[in-house]
Amino acid sequence: MDWTNFQLDQIEDTDLVVASDVVFDPVLVPSLACTLQEILRPKKTREGPKAEAFIACKVRNESTLELFEHHLRDGEQGLKLCQEEIRVPDGTVRLYTIS
Ligand SMILES: C[S@@+](CC[C@H](N)C(=O)[O-])C[C@H]1O[C@@H](n2cnc3c(N)ncnc32)[C@H](O)[C@@H]1O
Repeated sequence: MDWTNFQLDQIEDTDLVVASDVVFDPVLVPSLACTLQEILRPKKTREGPKAEAFIACKVRNESTLELFEHHLRDGEQGLKLCQEEIRVPDGTVRLYTIS
């Protein structure tokens, strides 16, 4: 799949998205956020378990991560965004849970 040209019918019904180090280029952040919103949105309107995304990001550029958070929070879908940070030997990893 290409985030810049994503159509929901390109993938099967999805309960869980797992990704790491995909938030690195500010130019790609809006299309990545839109792709996540498209994948997670259908489940929000249904009964039963909601779809979730777990995204792990090494904190390299804070402004790029803030841009990602902004696009997810301010999207039409009103996704819930939780985050926590863990220390690793060479820095910090931010873990996002999006639903
Ligand atoms: C820094 S890598 C990390 C990926 C993974 N954690 C790994 O170790 O292989 C960033 C990933 O984002 C993907 N990527 C970049 N632009 C993309 C796009 N427009 N659509 C889909 N994937 C994209 C790249 O293919 C790459 O796999």
